[in-house]
Amino acid sequence: MATITSLFYLLSAVLFILGLKNLGSPKTARRGNALAMLAMLLAVIITLLDQRILDFTHIILGLVVGSAIGVYAAKKVQMTAMPQMVAIFNGFGGGASTLVATSEYFQLSGATEVNILATIALSILIGTVTFTGSFIAFAKLQGIMKGAPITFPGQRAFNGLIIVACIVLGVMFTRDPGNMTPLMVILGLAALLGVTSVIPIGGADMPVVISLLNSYSGLAAAATGFVISNNVLIIGGALVGASGLILTKIMCVAMNRSLGNVLFAAVGSDGGAASGGSGEQKQVTRYTADDAVMMLDNAQSVIIVPGYGLAVAQAQHVLQEMAQLLEANGLNVKYAIHPVAGRMPGHMNVLLAEANVSYEQLYEMDAINDDFQNTDIALIIGANDVVNPVARNKKDSALYGMPILNVDQARTVMIVKRSLSVGFAGEDNPLFYDDKTRMLFGDAKKMVTEIVQILKS
Ligand code: TAP
Repeated sequence: MATITSLFYLLSAVLFILGLKNLGSPKTARRGNALAMLAMLLAVIITLLDQRILDFTHIILGLVVGSAIGVYAAKKVQMTAMPQMVAIFNGFGGGASTLVATSEYFQLSGATEVNILATIALSILIGTVTFTGSFIAFAKLQGIMKGAPITFPGQRAFNGLIIVACIVLGVMFTRDPGNMTPLMVILGLAALLGVTSVIPIGGADMPVVISLLNSYSGLAAAATGFVISNNVLIIGGALVGASGLILTKIMCVAMNRSLGNVLFAAVGSDGGAASGGSGEQKQVTRYTADDAVMMLDNAQSVIIVPGYGLAVAQAQHVLQEMAQLLEANGLNVKYAIHPVAGRMPGHMNVLLAEANVSYEQLYEMDAINDDFQNTDIALIIGANDVVNPVARNKKDSALYGMPILNVDQARTVMIVKRSLSVGFAGEDNPLFYDDKTRMLFGDAKKMVTEIVQILKS
């Protein structure tokens, strides 16, 4: 049985790696997901059979109940709430690692090697930080807690002290494993650290935190894998840990911030400072759908910039219809995708793929930013922060330093959104008041549908 188990573990490890590889491109992402799911299913079933923890009835019952919850959640949870869902998954992953490592402690008998004891302590530390940190991230994204950073004097020193205390307690535990007090104090301190290290992080930085916590949950799983000598858990955990870290780095680069700055600078504390508090009356140019169509009729090129509002309005299908009509009228249509547009990595790609927009029309920020200057119309649908010019020059802004799409270099800018209100980072957007900007106020789906109807008639 041991050899068969190892072979199946090897197979599922290979499937995990192939799954990740396939997730690298939108074209193969579905297959990647399917391969990774199969790998997970194999790993779970083989472990349960091999360890004889449960009999078949329980395994099948578990599969049915788990699948039902999974299908319900996948169908019910809106795409825009996906980051919260990922945060919860990460939290449960971390919590599971803590539980497994703790139960392993209770099963220890006789002298145990120091490295196993240290790994139990590490697994509990990382798993619990991930658990509470992820639930704070969930609460911030769900609006249960306010998104702005929550800070207190000496916060960083306090967090540093907790880490030092955990190291000291870990050493105490390895010296005298019979005394479980240090381990339980580590658990309590780790729970506190998860909270105190995530509350000072502003809402706009949550994507990076979620990805980092995802990486932590992988590290916790890998550490637990060492504790229970389970190879597939070590490999799976290491893959999640490494890919989470890579994604974290990609997002930091996309926002032009260091990870240290994201974690410790409490960016966004004064997010509302710019949102129209000056009392000064600024003028915007309003456009109707008719005006927009007239302008589109006279244009040769348009770059569509989708953002979070497109997802909220579920306007992707009608947007695709509009793009096809414009192309039929001879316009050159491209889509510009900002790496953090929407509320999760790849959000806009997934949304537009759902509407069958061809991948060839989607351009990443770096590939398209130079094209705006030669484009007639930048048509922004439900995006705000990713085109906000304050990112270039307002030093005290939560967005400062984040590369943006150069929409203001297009000959005309058209913005579809419901009001002049701010985006996720809470920053007023001077682009709305620019001479070349036309504001089309309304729900994205309604406005684009109107444009489509006029184009058709
Ligand atoms: P945002 O800056 O959040 O702006 C979205 C805009 O959409 C809002 O200003 C809103 O204005 C408009 N809107 C909402 N519902 C709409 C509807 N039904 N119809 C039309 N417009 C609607 O979006 P963005 O430009 O995509 O930037 C993303 C932001 O989210 C960044 O700050 C990013 O850091 C953050 N974030 C990103 C992620 C990832 S990984 N992508 C995850 C979490 C957070 P009105 O209310 O006036 O309509």
